[in-house]
Amino acid sequence: MGFRHSESMPALSPVDDDSSGDERMTDGDPHPHVAPPPAPNVRDAHCFSSCVDLNSMCSSNTSDDESSVVINSSPHRRASAMSPHLGLKKVLVTGGAGFIGSSVAMHLLARGDSVVIVDEMNDYYDVRIKENNLRRLREMCPPEHHLVVYVGDICDEEFMLSVFEAERPRWVCHMAARAGVRPSIQDPFVYIHSNIRGTTHLMELSHKFGIENFVFASSSSVYGGSKSTFFSEDECVDNPVSPYAASKKACELLAYTYHHLYRLNVTGLRFFTVYGPRGRPDMAPFKFIDRVSRGLELQQFGDGSSSRDYTYIDDIVDGIVRAIDRPYPYQVFNLGKGSGTSLREFISIVEKHVGRDAIVNVLPDQPGDVPYTCADVSKAYDLLGYSATVSFDEGIRRTVRWYEDEYVKNICVEPETQANGMGRAASFAEIRSVVAA
Ligand SMILES: NC(=O)c1ccc[n+]([C@@H]2O[C@H](COP(=O)([O-])OP(=O)(O)OC[C@H]3O[C@@H](n4cnc5c(N)ncnc54)[C@H](O)[C@@H]3O)[C@@H](O)[C@H]2O)c1
Repeated sequence: MGFRHSESMPALSPVDDDSSGDERMTDGDPHPHVAPPPAPNVRDAHCFSSCVDLNSMCSSNTSDDESSVVINSSPHRRASAMSPHLGLKKVLVTGGAGFIGSSVAMHLLARGDSVVIVDEMNDYYDVRIKENNLRRLREMCPPEHHLVVYVGDICDEEFMLSVFEAERPRWVCHMAARAGVRPSIQDPFVYIHSNIRGTTHLMELSHKFGIENFVFASSSSVYGGSKSTFFSEDECVDNPVSPYAASKKACELLAYTYHHLYRLNVTGLRFFTVYGPRGRPDMAPFKFIDRVSRGLELQQFGDGSSSRDYTYIDDIVDGIVRAIDRPYPYQVFNLGKGSGTSLREFISIVEKHVGRDAIVNVLPDQPGDVPYTCADVSKAYDLLGYSATVSFDEGIRRTVRWYEDEYVKNICVEPETQANGMGRAASFAEIRSVVAA
């Protein structure tokens, strides 16, 4: 691993802009401008102001933000792209033992930042997977770099206050949450606890401790009730269809409130199905690779033509780090690949890389399934310089390699044995009784 600290490059205007659209680097910046490839689905209309007026929010903090540069005078692109903060950082990464949090922590450590992890190590999936993530982080962390791990609940006020007092982080990357749509229907309270209460508590501490930038994980699930195919941040997402989606939408709303009341810089990132090495075992990419490798049956709902946006972990980490480095006053971004993959194609790519035919059980469409959903990532491209670079084929190839070389040899926890095999969240009541015992 060898990332330069400035790997999070500045946001650049799309290639169809005129040259005045380039973001200028801060004086003395040693790094050349590198134009990313065109965003996969840059749309004509960039109206960043549907449910809440993001343009006005973006400009609300410009008086003390001289690094912001207006990238285009077009009425659609009045938001400013910000030059990245390039200095070394101490970043609090919540959920840092989980899939995405540990991957971000690895990237931050590799580029020289200090990382403070808080994770309660819950058993939503097998804890050995999280322990393995932490072990890898400890192993790769050079002795001169700073990695501290705290095990505890972000909702525990005394505990979190002591972490902030002891560590004094200046940047927060909040990835801890209860994830998963279906388990949230079975047990909504644990989602209200970790996601809504936990995020509010962290923002409360963040404004009190003068955090420079609070970046948190939202989810594409907030679009659950939408009829669109390309999901854009412009859409009103007031109709979440699961407690998980509602909890993420609630975090976005509360984040705006903390920005409004205390000028806390907050960015919410709506991730679209993230997969890759060390991926969550309750998610389709891991399950498909695992089941095809072990000769177990897969369930295919519908004729296989439905399509989803799957995002490789390295692209997501790149987007998260770009967001951390740019303390926008308040923004919400989609982070996806920006193009869809059909279920049929998905299965055949897994078969190709595993080298085995899938046993597929075709079932009727599930109620509410939509044929094609995908992220519109043009806003993240404009304001963060984000553009996914790993194709689904290449991402699955790398994930299969990890599964065979690392997972099967070192971890080898069969997903069916975890929780109830669905990745069911333990209920909050269960956790409390375990703690009390
Ligand atoms: N993986 C995806 O495809 C995806 C998609 C959309 C959004 N997200 C969001 O991204 C974030 C990271 O997801 P992930 O896939 O890495 O999940 P993960 O389950 O692997 O990681 C989350 C971590 O948070 C920890 N955690 C949960 N509640 C906590 C609490 N109250 N206190 C302390 N730690 C707690 C868990 O122990 C876990 O290690 C989550 O917020 C999730 O909702 C993920």
